[in-house]
Amino acid sequence: MSAQQPDLEWWKTAVVYQIYPRSFQDTTGNGIGDLNGITERLPYLADTLGVDAIWISPFYPSPMADFGYDVSDYTDVNPLFGTLDDFDRLLSEAHRRDLKVIIDWVPNHTSDQHPWFITSRSSRANPKRDWYVWRDSKPDGELPNNWQSEFGGPAWTYDESTDQWYLHSFLAEQPDLNWRNPAVVAAMLDTVRFWLDRGVDGFRIDVAHYVMKDPALTDNPIAQDPGAMGTFKPMGPFNVWEHLHDRGHPDVHGIYRHLRAVLDEYDGDRFAIGEIHIFDWDEWALYYGDGDELHMPFNFSLIWAGWDAAAIRNRIGALEAAVPEHGWPNYVLGNHDEQRLATRYGPANAKAATTLLLTLRGQPTIYYGDELAMHQTDVPPDREQDPWGIRVPGLSRDGCRTPMQWAPDPGHGFTEASITPWLPFADDAMERNVETQLREAESPLSFVRRLLELRSARPSLNRGSIQLLNGLPDDVLGYDRSHSDERTTVLINYSSEPREVPIAAPCTVLASTHGHRADIETTTVIMAPHEAVVIEPAGD
Ligand code: NOJ
Repeated sequence: MSAQQPDLEWWKTAVVYQIYPRSFQDTTGNGIGDLNGITERLPYLADTLGVDAIWISPFYPSPMADFGYDVSDYTDVNPLFGTLDDFDRLLSEAHRRDLKVIIDWVPNHTSDQHPWFITSRSSRANPKRDWYVWRDSKPDGELPNNWQSEFGGPAWTYDESTDQWYLHSFLAEQPDLNWRNPAVVAAMLDTVRFWLDRGVDGFRIDVAHYVMKDPALTDNPIAQDPGAMGTFKPMGPFNVWEHLHDRGHPDVHGIYRHLRAVLDEYDGDRFAIGEIHIFDWDEWALYYGDGDELHMPFNFSLIWAGWDAAAIRNRIGALEAAVPEHGWPNYVLGNHDEQRLATRYGPANAKAATTLLLTLRGQPTIYYGDELAMHQTDVPPDREQDPWGIRVPGLSRDGCRTPMQWAPDPGHGFTEASITPWLPFADDAMERNVETQLREAESPLSFVRRLLELRSARPSLNRGSIQLLNGLPDDVLGYDRSHSDERTTVLINYSSEPREVPIAAPCTVLASTHGHRADIETTTVIMAPHEAVVIEPAGD
């Protein structure tokens, strides 16, 4: 079933599945998922679903101020999630099933409990002082500059005992490393080697563009047009500023050339994808380098495009124009920071959105549970966990991080019946779960399985070129995917009305969001509201 083919690097044809480890499978009965839980579910991922790679969000030792994105040891496993032996077993079991394993790497900041920061903070004179970004107050006693934390409030915290401020682009518990210090570069690249030596296939790099800032720490200007300033969603007071100087300094590219050189020392096409929220396509594409930096910067452009044929068409066109010749595109419609796609686009559009994700050109990443069309859950205030939501009301990410819904029983196959999971289950978990959906031929899960099978079987889908179609009715997006003499056409109706789409008949219908469709013998496809179809055009 795997789409991996020997003539292309594995990551080009792979479909990646993101696992938020706290929420995937609990095997210890504490209401929190763990590594052994992931290992237990590998048959689901490799065989039932049929993805090619998993990306596991952080499982390192961490005080969990930001649920693992505050790392206190880059080369171990948090006891909450298991042990290094558990990780090694997960990796070898995944490899036995031809699944690649990508892990999260968090280079911009550590936890404030990381021994490096504890030492750095201990005195101005200690050798690790310069591993982080420390500054004096301005002469008037003010903060070193006007930079803001993404999670609200100033990006500086005052340390009384050494009378200086340290920089944290996120929580105060996540101090930024000083990547201008060669000792930091060396130590962090050693953490990469540690996991490469164990056999991981790649890294997802957290806020990859943040690691280099303006060395002069220049104030950010006020944003002229907050909507166009490089964020994809409203981010509260953070949007007041244009983030010109606090991230994405051009020196960042030297770091990724260095990282790439390390990856390339290893066999097996080790891979790096960077989380990069940059709206300017030219600047975004620089992270591909000359094929000597990241294999890919994540493309989040569809997440906030809205469910609109013209907007999505524009973004696909812009991406295709931006990706350099030596680059490879990717698409993502959901992750642990964003509202679930079934809620963002509306439940009626969930299958069509998945069709889009799995039939565009490039590497797709599926967020766990989106194959069930899980919706955003309303987490009551007394169960709220996300530090961002607690600091900036309205921005909580808890609703997309609720436990995976495996079965129609009280623990939903995630945990034991008597256990309260770390976040509540969605209210429809009794009906919306893997076990139930596997029994239903037209469930979201059965549909995703069919799409993944098609994608794997058809080179036009897993590696072919893309051509956006012209002359379609408003609200219909269409594209052709081609590889040698194979062609696949995808049509998506974004409206809640039927649409008539002219087509060269006859066509074989490979999949429809709306269940079985006879092959098309006429020169018009009547598309149902919210329908997506995948077809093999006439003559192929
Ligand atoms: C981006 C991660 O995806 C998010 O979950 C995290 O809170 C921030 N980076 C800080 O590490």
